[in-house]
Amino acid sequence: MKAPAPGRPQDLWERMRSLTDTGYIPISDEEVRLFQSHSGAAPGQTAVDIGTGTGEWACEIARLGLAVAGYDSDGAVIEWAREVHTEHTARLHFARHDFTAGAIPASLRPGSADIVSCRHSLHLMDVPRLMTDIRRWLRPDGVLHVTTSVSDVRAAGFPDAQVRALAQGWREHHQYTVDPHQQVIAVVLRGPGG
Ligand SMILES: C[S@@+](CC[C@H](N)C(=O)[O-])C[C@H]1O[C@@H](n2cnc3c(N)ncnc32)[C@H](O)[C@@H]1O
Repeated sequence: MKAPAPGRPQDLWERMRSLTDTGYIPISDEEVRLFQSHSGAAPGQTAVDIGTGTGEWACEIARLGLAVAGYDSDGAVIEWAREVHTEHTARLHFARHDFTAGAIPASLRPGSADIVSCRHSLHLMDVPRLMTDIRRWLRPDGVLHVTTSVSDVRAAGFPDAQVRALAQGWREHHQYTVDPHQQVIAVVLRGPGG
């Protein structure tokens, strides 16, 4: 199991915990392996990580050789991510952005992303608006990869019916289990134009 960045201050832990029932969910090597094989992530591609938090997942994607932009509405976690994840600086960038309240950042150009990732974050946002925006940012063959707990508790994840609804209008979709014990799944949606 990969540890979160060392020495993350207590107030950042509390912040993350206040947003979700689950708090920080550690990343295993197996989770990264599954992401790579199911999303088709490959060196040289471009990825966007939405609700990146302290950036551990964005960093794992950059380690696979992708250029990654991680966005989060919380300025303190973005500052922390910038300070700590210095190992892939050429292709790993973090920026503060609120996907519900803010206008679309100029850096997110239409048709520019191979992969958009939402790891334990999509359920916290304005889902219809964000799904429309994500379709615009992805290339025609691009992938939206959503990792979520399956839960009826709003702060924890999506109920089953909402997970199924995410697939509407995409050319291809499938899902796989990330952690059977915690009921964490990943939904892979390819082809935003249907
Ligand atoms: C449960 S954390 C997950 C963090 C990270 N993706 C991970 O897997 O560890 C959810 C993150 O989504 C961010 N978030 C919530 N609403 C947001 C919004 N409207 N725009 C951008 N980020 C948001 C929170 O600040 C928080 O860092």
